[in-house]
Amino acid sequence: MNAGIIGLGTYAPEQVLTNEDLEKKVDTSDEWIRTRTGIEERRIARPEEDTSDMALAAAKEAIKDAGISADQIGLILVATVTPDRPFPSVATILQDKLGATNAAAMDISAACAGFMYGLVTAKQFVESNAYSHVLVVGVEKLSKVTNWEDRNTAVLFGDGAGAAIVSKVSEGRGILSFELGANGSGGKYLLQDGSYITMNGREVFKFAVRQMGESAVNVIEKAGLSKEDIDMLIPHQANIRIMDASRERLALPVEKMSKTIHKYGNTSSASIPLSLKEEVINGKVKDDDIIVMVGFGGGLTWGAITLKWGK
Ligand code: UT7
Repeated sequence: MNAGIIGLGTYAPEQVLTNEDLEKKVDTSDEWIRTRTGIEERRIARPEEDTSDMALAAAKEAIKDAGISADQIGLILVATVTPDRPFPSVATILQDKLGATNAAAMDISAACAGFMYGLVTAKQFVESNAYSHVLVVGVEKLSKVTNWEDRNTAVLFGDGAGAAIVSKVSEGRGILSFELGANGSGGKYLLQDGSYITMNGREVFKFAVRQMGESAVNVIEKAGLSKEDIDMLIPHQANIRIMDASRERLALPVEKMSKTIHKYGNTSSASIPLSLKEEVINGKVKDDDIIVMVGFGGGLTWGAITLKWGK
């Protein structure tokens, strides 16, 4: 039996920062941001609201959704590049706040591909029977590493969290295939340099368009499926133009691609679970649907998964 997702939870901070708000901070315009990125607004955590607080809210919801208790979790994996502090890890802080006393805990640093790395790591432990339930969280407080005077990056990012419980699911469902990858020579294009994120947008854009399409095609092939079998593409929400390029590579209509970027901006490792939960709630991802999730980010890293939805 494959590992799959049996519960999902999300959290987005209350405070909304609109493109109009940003016009007052940097030399930009709502028109530029909308047309070049697809972003209309993003959420910003309160100063005292830590990464682990957002992770906790999403994790609690995922545990409830899965119908398990915190002490049944064997491992906690938190994908983040904006931890509360270098150590202890967000995963251990979360373990304590949840009372998940039987869980091992560690963070994963794979930037915007982090949730894909987390799900694939969880799959290994579940399918080898090491743990029955693994909690995977993608969470970022990017607002604390954003230079609000740099228009190249300030317009892009937002805060949020998404969590999944990975466990064995019914025969035929769950994670059917995956691909993870990295190219460290591209690390210079997207990094935290000192206090803030710096980025060569054009280089990241080119890499993302190529890699997202390629990885999506690869995992579909590895699962023994074809493009026509895909019910929903859930791409990392970095830029609507990058997302549309991967959708077009799979020849999918717009309604088969999840889009939440207009509401949340780029929330890095949280963007895929935030989108997935929304599609499940809206009834657009149903039992036995085939979904393809694909992420890319700083490192450079990438990851893609084909999954047949359902417990
Ligand atoms: O999770 C991964 C994180 N990163 C990414 O996914 C980023 C990938 N890259 C991108 O999404 C795009 O490259 C950006 C949205 C960052 C930039 O879009 P672009 O179409 O590549 O724009 P550009 O960098 O080629 O800049 C076009 C123009 C420039 O002006 P000139 O030189 O043509 O006069 C920029 O200075 O737009 C200007 N510009 C802006 N104007 C208004 C750049 N940022 C802004 C801004 N507002 N915020």
